[in-house]
Amino acid sequence: MASFKTKISGTGKYHPTKVMTNFDFEKLMDTNDQWITERTGIKERRIAKPEETTVSMSTAAAKMAITEAGIDPNEIDMILFQVTMPDQFFPNSASFLQEALGITNKCACLDINAACSGYLYGFTIADSLIKNGIYKNILLIGAEKTSAFNGFKDRNTAVLFGDAAGATLLSRAERSESSEVLGTILGSDSSKKDSLAMPNGGAASPITKEIIERGEEKLVVMNGQVVFKTAVKTMAQYSAELLEKSGLGLDGLDWFIPHQANLRIIEAVAQMVNCPANKIISNVDKYANTSSASIPVTINEAVASGKIKRGDTILMTAFGAGLTSAGVLIRY
Ligand SMILES: CC(C)(COP(=O)(O)OP(=O)(O)OC[C@H]1O[C@@H](n2cnc3c(N)ncnc32)[C@H](O)[C@@H]1OP(=O)(O)O)[C@@H](O)C(=O)NCCC(=O)NCCS
Repeated sequence: MASFKTKISGTGKYHPTKVMTNFDFEKLMDTNDQWITERTGIKERRIAKPEETTVSMSTAAAKMAITEAGIDPNEIDMILFQVTMPDQFFPNSASFLQEALGITNKCACLDINAACSGYLYGFTIADSLIKNGIYKNILLIGAEKTSAFNGFKDRNTAVLFGDAAGATLLSRAERSESSEVLGTILGSDSSKKDSLAMPNGGAASPITKEIIERGEEKLVVMNGQVVFKTAVKTMAQYSAELLEKSGLGLDGLDWFIPHQANLRIIEAVAQMVNCPANKIISNVDKYANTSSASIPVTINEAVASGKIKRGDTILMTAFGAGLTSAGVLIRY
């Protein structure tokens, strides 16, 4: 069987311009900057305007990634679009993006949903399609308009999330290039699926007048402590396993990019795997938890600032509703 290597050939991001600070939340609900900062490390987040959708945000991010990669959009073989709540249930978001990018080659279009872990799930799927010689260029999106399902009523969840889109172009690497995927792990613990969920709005529980009257049409249920503990344990386990199996170890690791949900979670994971602070890349203070957009946005910013360079090793790990989790180790 053909075996090729995968590289990141382009990165992009989009953030809405509207900034919502912790102090803005103080005016909306019984919370305060100190509580949010101490528990999460978040200071502010971006909130999309009504006309900013997951597709429009991902279009801007994708254009950046395509320009960086220097390819023609029609060279894209597949669009893999991770979105937890799409703009529209069907057609899928990837098809909307194909049109928005002016791609006319009839490439494959697929949406996936593993919530906040979805970008790394998509990365693993894309890597396997490239490795096996099926496709050469896959546009991977993590785009989330979390404000669309955030009722801004429940202080337990409202302060945690933000809107963004991240795009990564994954391409077949030449044999001479050092870029490659060194390992991936995916998993999910459905016994904890009720600890982070949005029960209403799907086919099983369509939005009714009664649900609206109870103010539950945008209800996100979360047991923060169950999510916190599971996230730390699983991300630390996946990280340690990837570092060990690859033979890289911590000394061989340049950058650690965990899902940007909460600074305390990031620090706890780093402590469990003994990762020094200077290897961790984090922007959760500025953007909060942008779900599946968090890792591709962070990669884009670190590449753009010159922090991440070709040949660097990067460990990424994420968790999300499911409770899904994922880890991917690459040489950039
Ligand atoms: C949500 C989270 C920040 C809460 O932190 P915590 O240390 O578990 O919270 P604590 O137990 O110290 O505090 C809970 C109390 O704070 C209150 N509280 C919750 N949100 C608050 C807010 N925004 N402002 C002020 N008080 C708040 C709760 O009502 C509760 O009050 P009570 O004790 O009177 O019932 C934390 O559990 C967490 O980050 N979990 C993971 C969530 C996550 O990442 N989800 C997304 C996954 S992709």
